[in-house]
Amino acid sequence: MNESGNYKARYGQWAMVIGGSFGLGEALARELARRGMNVAITARGQEKLDAAAQRLRADFGVEVRTVAANLSDPGILQLLLAGMAGTPVDFLIYNAASEHIGEFIAQDLERHLANIHVNCIVPTVLLHHFAREMAGRGRGGIVLCSSLGAAQGMYSLSTYGASKAYENLLAQSLWYELKRKGVDATSFMIGSTYTPNFQRNQKIRQTPFAETRTPEGLPEGTPVPQDPEEAAANLFAQLDREWLPVVYANPRDEENTHRLSAMTLAQRITLTSDATRASFEAAPGAKEGEGLVM
Ligand SMILES: NC(=O)c1ccc[n+]([C@@H]2O[C@H](COP(=O)([O-])OP(=O)(O)OC[C@H]3O[C@@H](n4cnc5c(N)ncnc54)[C@H](OP(=O)(O)O)[C@@H]3O)[C@@H](O)[C@H]2O)c1
Repeated sequence: MNESGNYKARYGQWAMVIGGSFGLGEALARELARRGMNVAITARGQEKLDAAAQRLRADFGVEVRTVAANLSDPGILQLLLAGMAGTPVDFLIYNAASEHIGEFIAQDLERHLANIHVNCIVPTVLLHHFAREMAGRGRGGIVLCSSLGAAQGMYSLSTYGASKAYENLLAQSLWYELKRKGVDATSFMIGSTYTPNFQRNQKIRQTPFAETRTPEGLPEGTPVPQDPEEAAANLFAQLDREWLPVVYANPRDEENTHRLSAMTLAQRITLTSDATRASFEAAPGAKEGEGLVM
Protein backbone atom coordinates (compact mmCIF):
# COMPACT_ATOMS: atom_id res chain seq x y z
CA MET A 1 0.00 0.00 0.00
CA ASN A 2 1.50 3.36 -1.00
CA GLU A 3 1.62 6.48 1.19
CA SER A 4 -1.71 7.83 -0.14
CA GLY A 5 -3.34 4.51 0.74
CA ASN A 6 -2.41 4.68 4.45
CA TYR A 7 -5.52 6.41 5.70
CA LYS A 8 -4.67 6.01 9.38
CA ALA A 9 -1.66 8.29 8.92
CA ARG A 10 -3.59 10.65 6.66
CA TYR A 11 -6.96 10.93 8.45
CA GLY A 12 -6.74 9.32 11.91
CA GLN A 13 -7.65 6.09 13.68
CA TRP A 14 -11.38 5.57 13.21
CA ALA A 15 -13.80 5.61 10.32
CA MET A 16 -17.57 5.26 10.60
CA VAL A 17 -19.79 3.83 7.86
CA ILE A 18 -23.47 4.65 8.31
CA GLY A 19 -25.20 1.62 6.84
CA GLY A 20 -22.11 -0.61 6.80
CA SER A 21 -23.46 -4.07 7.56
CA PHE A 22 -23.93 -5.50 4.06
CA GLY A 23 -23.91 -4.72 0.35
CA LEU A 24 -22.31 -1.48 -0.74
CA GLY A 25 -21.87 -0.21 2.82
CA GLU A 26 -19.90 -3.29 3.83
CA ALA A 27 -17.76 -3.02 0.68
CA LEU A 28 -16.96 0.62 1.56
CA ALA A 29 -16.06 -0.36 5.15
CA ARG A 30 -13.72 -3.03 3.78
CA GLU A 31 -11.91 -0.48 1.59
CA LEU A 32 -11.32 1.69 4.67
CA ALA A 33 -10.04 -1.31 6.65
CA ARG A 34 -7.79 -2.27 3.70
CA ARG A 35 -6.26 1.21 4.08
CA GLY A 36 -5.52 0.59 7.75
CA MET A 37 -8.41 2.38 9.50
CA ASN A 38 -10.41 0.92 12.37
CA VAL A 39 -14.07 0.94 11.40
CA ALA A 40 -17.33 1.56 13.25
CA ILE A 41 -20.26 0.23 11.25
CA THR A 42 -23.86 1.18 11.92
CA ALA A 43 -27.19 -0.31 10.79
CA ARG A 44 -30.51 -1.42 12.31
CA GLY A 45 -29.85 -5.17 12.39
CA GLN A 46 -27.31 -6.36 15.00
CA GLU A 47 -26.88 -9.83 13.50
CA LYS A 48 -25.67 -8.58 10.12
CA LEU A 49 -23.48 -5.99 11.84
CA ASP A 50 -21.80 -8.72 13.88
CA ALA A 51 -21.21 -10.90 10.81
CA ALA A 52 -19.69 -7.98 8.85
CA ALA A 53 -17.54 -7.02 11.85
CA GLN A 54 -16.20 -10.56 12.12
CA ARG A 55 -15.25 -10.56 8.42
CA LEU A 56 -13.51 -7.17 8.76
CA ARG A 57 -11.47 -8.27 11.78
CA ALA A 58 -10.52 -11.61 10.20
CA ASP A 59 -9.59 -10.17 6.81
CA PHE A 60 -7.81 -6.93 7.80
CA GLY A 61 -6.83 -7.25 11.48
CA VAL A 62 -8.36 -3.85 12.34
CA GLU A 63 -10.52 -2.94 15.33
CA VAL A 64 -14.24 -2.87 14.59
CA ARG A 65 -17.19 -1.49 16.54
CA THR A 66 -20.85 -1.96 15.75
CA VAL A 67 -23.64 0.48 16.56
CA ALA A 68 -27.18 -0.81 16.07
CA ALA A 69 -29.40 2.24 15.55
CA ASN A 70 -32.22 3.31 13.27
CA LEU A 71 -31.58 6.55 11.40
CA SER A 72 -35.23 7.43 11.98
CA ASP A 73 -34.55 7.66 15.72
CA PRO A 74 -34.76 11.33 16.77
CA GLY A 75 -31.74 10.79 19.05
CA ILE A 76 -29.58 9.27 16.31
CA LEU A 77 -26.54 11.53 16.84
CA GLN A 78 -26.48 10.76 20.56
CA LEU A 79 -26.83 7.02 19.87
CA LEU A 80 -23.85 7.08 17.52
CA LEU A 81 -21.76 9.16 19.93
CA ALA A 82 -22.61 6.75 22.76
CA GLY A 83 -21.50 3.87 20.52
CA MET A 84 -18.14 5.58 19.97
CA ALA A 85 -17.71 6.26 23.73
CA GLY A 86 -15.63 9.41 23.20
CA THR A 87 -13.48 8.07 20.34
CA PRO A 88 -13.31 10.66 17.53
CA VAL A 89 -14.65 9.83 14.06
CA ASP A 90 -11.97 10.76 11.52
CA PHE A 91 -13.66 9.54 8.35
CA LEU A 92 -17.42 9.37 7.79
CA ILE A 93 -19.30 7.63 5.00
CA TYR A 94 -23.06 8.22 4.90
CA ASN A 95 -24.24 5.23 2.86
CA ALA A 96 -27.64 4.18 4.24
CA ALA A 97 -30.70 5.67 2.59
CA SER A 98 -34.45 5.70 2.67
CA GLU A 99 -35.31 4.45 -0.79
CA HIS A 100 -39.08 4.60 -1.16
CA ILE A 101 -39.99 5.11 -4.77
CA GLY A 102 -43.18 5.07 -6.80
CA GLU A 103 -45.50 7.65 -8.35
CA PHE A 104 -45.63 10.73 -6.13
CA ILE A 105 -49.36 10.95 -5.48
CA ALA A 106 -49.78 7.16 -5.22
CA GLN A 107 -47.42 6.97 -2.22
CA ASP A 108 -48.34 7.77 1.37
CA LEU A 109 -46.91 11.07 2.57
CA GLU A 110 -44.99 9.19 5.30
CA ARG A 111 -42.84 7.47 2.67
CA HIS A 112 -41.84 10.80 1.13
CA LEU A 113 -41.13 12.29 4.55
CA ALA A 114 -38.98 9.26 5.43
CA ASN A 115 -36.88 9.87 2.30
CA ILE A 116 -36.40 13.49 3.28
CA HIS A 117 -35.64 12.66 6.92
CA VAL A 118 -33.07 9.89 6.36
CA ASN A 119 -31.47 11.34 3.21
CA CYS A 120 -31.49 15.07 4.04
CA ILE A 121 -32.12 15.86 7.72
CA VAL A 122 -30.02 13.11 9.31
CA PRO A 123 -26.89 13.57 7.15
CA THR A 124 -27.10 17.31 7.88
CA VAL A 125 -27.30 16.69 11.63
CA LEU A 126 -24.44 14.16 11.61
CA LEU A 127 -22.18 16.18 9.31
CA HIS A 128 -22.72 19.39 11.25
CA HIS A 129 -21.35 17.59 14.29
CA PHE A 130 -18.63 15.39 12.81
CA ALA A 131 -17.35 17.85 10.16
CA ARG A 132 -16.93 20.54 12.83
CA GLU A 133 -14.91 18.14 14.93
CA MET A 134 -12.79 17.07 11.96
CA ALA A 135 -12.16 20.71 11.00
CA GLY A 136 -11.13 21.41 14.61
CA ARG A 137 -8.52 18.64 14.33
CA GLY A 138 -7.43 19.85 10.87
CA ARG A 139 -8.03 16.52 9.11
CA GLY A 140 -10.80 14.16 8.09
CA GLY A 141 -12.65 12.53 5.22
CA ILE A 142 -16.36 12.62 4.29
CA VAL A 143 -18.23 10.65 1.62
CA LEU A 144 -21.94 11.24 1.00
CA CYS A 145 -23.57 8.52 -1.12
CA SER A 146 -25.78 10.01 -3.80
CA SER A 147 -27.43 8.42 -6.82
CA LEU A 148 -27.77 8.81 -10.57
CA GLY A 149 -31.42 9.42 -9.67
CA ALA A 150 -30.22 12.84 -8.44
CA ALA A 151 -29.10 13.94 -11.89
CA GLN A 152 -32.55 15.03 -13.08
CA GLY A 153 -36.24 14.58 -12.35
CA MET A 154 -37.46 11.10 -13.17
CA TYR A 155 -40.56 8.92 -13.06
CA SER A 156 -41.12 7.29 -9.63
CA LEU A 157 -38.09 8.95 -8.02
CA SER A 158 -39.58 12.29 -6.94
CA THR A 159 -38.56 12.62 -3.29
CA TYR A 160 -35.90 9.88 -3.44
CA GLY A 161 -34.13 11.63 -6.35
CA ALA A 162 -34.59 15.08 -4.81
CA SER A 163 -33.17 13.90 -1.48
CA LYS A 164 -30.16 12.31 -3.22
CA ALA A 165 -29.66 15.60 -5.11
CA TYR A 166 -29.54 17.31 -1.71
CA GLU A 167 -26.75 14.96 -0.62
CA ASN A 168 -24.93 15.52 -3.90
CA LEU A 169 -24.95 19.31 -3.56
CA LEU A 170 -24.21 19.24 0.17
CA ALA A 171 -21.10 17.15 -0.50
CA GLN A 172 -19.97 19.44 -3.31
CA SER A 173 -20.23 22.50 -1.05
CA LEU A 174 -18.32 20.70 1.68
CA TRP A 175 -15.65 19.68 -0.86
CA TYR A 176 -14.89 23.39 -1.31
CA GLU A 177 -15.48 24.69 2.21
CA LEU A 178 -13.74 21.98 4.19
CA LYS A 179 -10.61 21.44 2.13
CA ARG A 180 -9.36 24.80 3.41
CA LYS A 181 -9.61 23.26 6.88
CA GLY A 182 -7.79 20.04 5.99
CA VAL A 183 -10.94 17.92 5.56
CA ASP A 184 -11.66 16.07 2.29
CA ALA A 185 -15.25 15.58 1.09
CA THR A 186 -16.93 14.13 -1.97
CA SER A 187 -20.25 13.09 -3.43
CA PHE A 188 -20.29 9.43 -4.49
CA MET A 189 -22.54 9.08 -7.53
CA ILE A 190 -23.96 5.56 -7.59
CA GLY A 191 -25.88 3.77 -10.34
CA SER A 192 -27.45 0.30 -10.40
CA THR A 193 -25.47 -1.82 -7.94
CA TYR A 194 -26.14 -5.47 -7.17
CA THR A 195 -26.72 -5.22 -3.42
CA PRO A 196 -29.17 -7.39 -1.43
CA ASN A 197 -31.67 -4.48 -1.46
CA PHE A 198 -31.33 -4.10 -5.22
CA GLN A 199 -31.73 -7.84 -5.77
CA ARG A 200 -34.83 -7.96 -3.54
CA ASN A 201 -36.47 -5.36 -5.72
CA GLN A 202 -35.52 -7.14 -8.93
CA LYS A 203 -37.38 -10.15 -7.52
CA ILE A 204 -40.48 -8.04 -6.83
CA ARG A 205 -40.31 -6.59 -10.33
CA GLN A 206 -39.54 -10.01 -11.83
CA THR A 207 -36.65 -8.66 -13.92
CA PRO A 208 -33.89 -10.79 -15.45
CA PHE A 209 -31.65 -9.72 -12.53
CA ALA A 210 -33.80 -11.40 -9.88
CA GLU A 211 -31.40 -14.33 -9.42
CA THR A 212 -28.05 -13.16 -10.73
CA ARG A 213 -26.17 -9.99 -11.63
CA THR A 214 -25.18 -11.41 -15.01
CA PRO A 215 -28.12 -13.37 -16.44
CA GLU A 216 -27.70 -15.17 -19.75
CA GLY A 217 -29.60 -14.17 -22.86
CA LEU A 218 -29.93 -10.44 -22.12
CA PRO A 219 -30.77 -8.35 -25.19
CA GLU A 220 -27.62 -6.89 -26.79
CA GLY A 221 -26.43 -3.73 -25.02
CA THR A 222 -28.47 -4.21 -21.80
CA PRO A 223 -26.37 -2.68 -19.01
CA VAL A 224 -25.73 -5.01 -16.06
CA PRO A 225 -25.71 -3.68 -12.48
CA GLN A 226 -22.35 -3.07 -10.90
CA ASP A 227 -20.78 -5.31 -8.30
CA PRO A 228 -20.71 -3.41 -4.92
CA GLU A 229 -17.08 -4.40 -4.36
CA GLU A 230 -16.13 -2.87 -7.72
CA ALA A 231 -18.09 0.33 -6.92
CA ALA A 232 -16.29 0.72 -3.59
CA ALA A 233 -12.88 -0.06 -5.12
CA ASN A 234 -13.45 2.55 -7.86
CA LEU A 235 -14.29 5.21 -5.26
CA PHE A 236 -11.18 4.59 -3.20
CA ALA A 237 -8.91 4.27 -6.25
CA GLN A 238 -9.99 7.84 -7.10
CA LEU A 239 -9.69 9.12 -3.50
CA ASP A 240 -6.17 7.65 -3.27
CA ARG A 241 -5.24 9.86 -6.23
CA GLU A 242 -7.34 12.98 -5.71
CA TRP A 243 -10.62 14.03 -4.05
CA LEU A 244 -12.95 15.37 -6.72
CA PRO A 245 -16.29 17.07 -5.85
CA VAL A 246 -18.11 14.09 -7.41
CA VAL A 247 -16.82 10.56 -7.96
CA TYR A 248 -18.79 8.10 -10.10
CA ALA A 249 -19.00 4.50 -8.93
CA ASN A 250 -19.09 3.27 -12.50
CA PRO A 251 -17.14 4.95 -15.34
CA ARG A 252 -19.93 3.83 -17.68
CA ASP A 253 -22.40 6.06 -15.76
CA GLU A 254 -20.11 9.06 -16.02
CA GLU A 255 -19.84 8.59 -19.79
CA ASN A 256 -23.64 8.23 -20.09
CA THR A 257 -24.19 11.38 -18.03
CA HIS A 258 -21.95 13.36 -20.39
CA ARG A 259 -23.68 11.82 -23.41
CA LEU A 260 -27.16 12.65 -22.07
CA SER A 261 -26.14 16.25 -21.33
CA ALA A 262 -26.24 16.89 -25.09
CA MET A 263 -30.05 16.44 -24.96
CA THR A 264 -32.58 18.95 -23.68
CA LEU A 265 -33.73 18.43 -20.10
CA ALA A 266 -37.22 17.50 -21.34
CA GLN A 267 -35.71 14.82 -23.60
CA ARG A 268 -33.57 13.41 -20.79
CA ILE A 269 -36.43 13.21 -18.29
CA THR A 270 -38.71 11.62 -20.86
CA LEU A 271 -36.16 9.10 -22.12
CA THR A 272 -35.17 7.80 -18.69
CA SER A 273 -38.71 7.97 -17.29
CA ASP A 274 -40.31 6.12 -20.19
CA ALA A 275 -37.92 3.19 -19.66
CA THR A 276 -38.55 3.05 -15.90
CA ARG A 277 -42.32 3.38 -16.26
CA ALA A 278 -42.38 0.55 -18.81
CA SER A 279 -40.47 -1.73 -16.44
CA PHE A 280 -42.86 -0.88 -13.56
CA GLU A 281 -45.91 -1.55 -15.68
CA ALA A 282 -44.48 -4.92 -16.72
CA ALA A 283 -44.24 -5.96 -13.05
CA PRO A 284 -47.75 -6.33 -11.59
CA GLY A 285 -46.45 -6.84 -8.03
CA ALA A 286 -44.75 -3.46 -8.05
CA LYS A 287 -47.33 -1.11 -9.55
CA GLU A 288 -47.19 1.24 -6.60
CA GLY A 289 -43.43 0.95 -6.24
CA GLU A 290 -43.88 -0.62 -2.81
CA GLY A 291 -40.51 -1.15 -1.15
CA LEU A 292 -38.56 -0.54 -4.32
CA VAL A 293 -35.13 1.05 -4.45
CA MET A 294 -33.32 2.84 -7.22
N1 LIG B 1 -28.12 -0.35 -5.02
C1 LIG B 1 -28.36 0.50 -6.01
O1 LIG B 1 -28.65 0.12 -7.16
C2 LIG B 1 -28.20 2.00 -5.78
C3 LIG B 1 -28.39 2.87 -6.86
C4 LIG B 1 -28.23 4.24 -6.67
C5 LIG B 1 -27.86 4.72 -5.42
N2 LIG B 1 -27.70 3.85 -4.38
C6 LIG B 1 -27.32 4.40 -3.07
O2 LIG B 1 -26.31 3.56 -2.52
C7 LIG B 1 -26.43 3.51 -1.10
C8 LIG B 1 -26.55 2.04 -0.67
O3 LIG B 1 -27.81 1.53 -1.05
P1 LIG B 1 -28.19 -0.02 -1.05
O4 LIG B 1 -29.65 -0.11 -1.07
O5 LIG B 1 -27.45 -0.64 -2.15
O6 LIG B 1 -27.78 -0.49 0.37
P2 LIG B 1 -26.55 -1.29 1.03
O7 LIG B 1 -25.36 -0.42 1.14
O8 LIG B 1 -26.36 -2.61 0.35
O9 LIG B 1 -27.19 -1.56 2.48
C9 LIG B 1 -27.84 -0.56 3.24
C10 LIG B 1 -27.19 -0.43 4.62
O10 LIG B 1 -27.83 0.63 5.35
C11 LIG B 1 -28.48 0.10 6.52
N3 LIG B 1 -29.73 0.85 6.71
C12 LIG B 1 -30.74 0.98 5.82
N4 LIG B 1 -31.73 1.72 6.33
C13 LIG B 1 -31.33 2.10 7.58
C14 LIG B 1 -31.92 2.86 8.62
N5 LIG B 1 -33.15 3.39 8.51
N6 LIG B 1 -31.22 3.04 9.76
C15 LIG B 1 -29.99 2.51 9.91
N7 LIG B 1 -29.36 1.79 8.94
C16 LIG B 1 -30.04 1.56 7.81
C17 LIG B 1 -28.65 -1.39 6.21
O11 LIG B 1 -28.76 -2.24 7.35
P3 LIG B 1 -30.19 -2.52 8.08
O12 LIG B 1 -31.15 -2.86 6.97
O13 LIG B 1 -29.91 -3.66 9.02
O14 LIG B 1 -30.53 -1.27 8.79
C18 LIG B 1 -27.35 -1.68 5.47
O15 LIG B 1 -26.26 -1.78 6.35
C19 LIG B 1 -27.67 4.36 -0.76
O16 LIG B 1 -27.25 5.67 -0.42
C20 LIG B 1 -28.45 4.39 -2.07
O17 LIG B 1 -29.28 5.53 -2.17
C21 LIG B 1 -27.86 2.50 -4.54
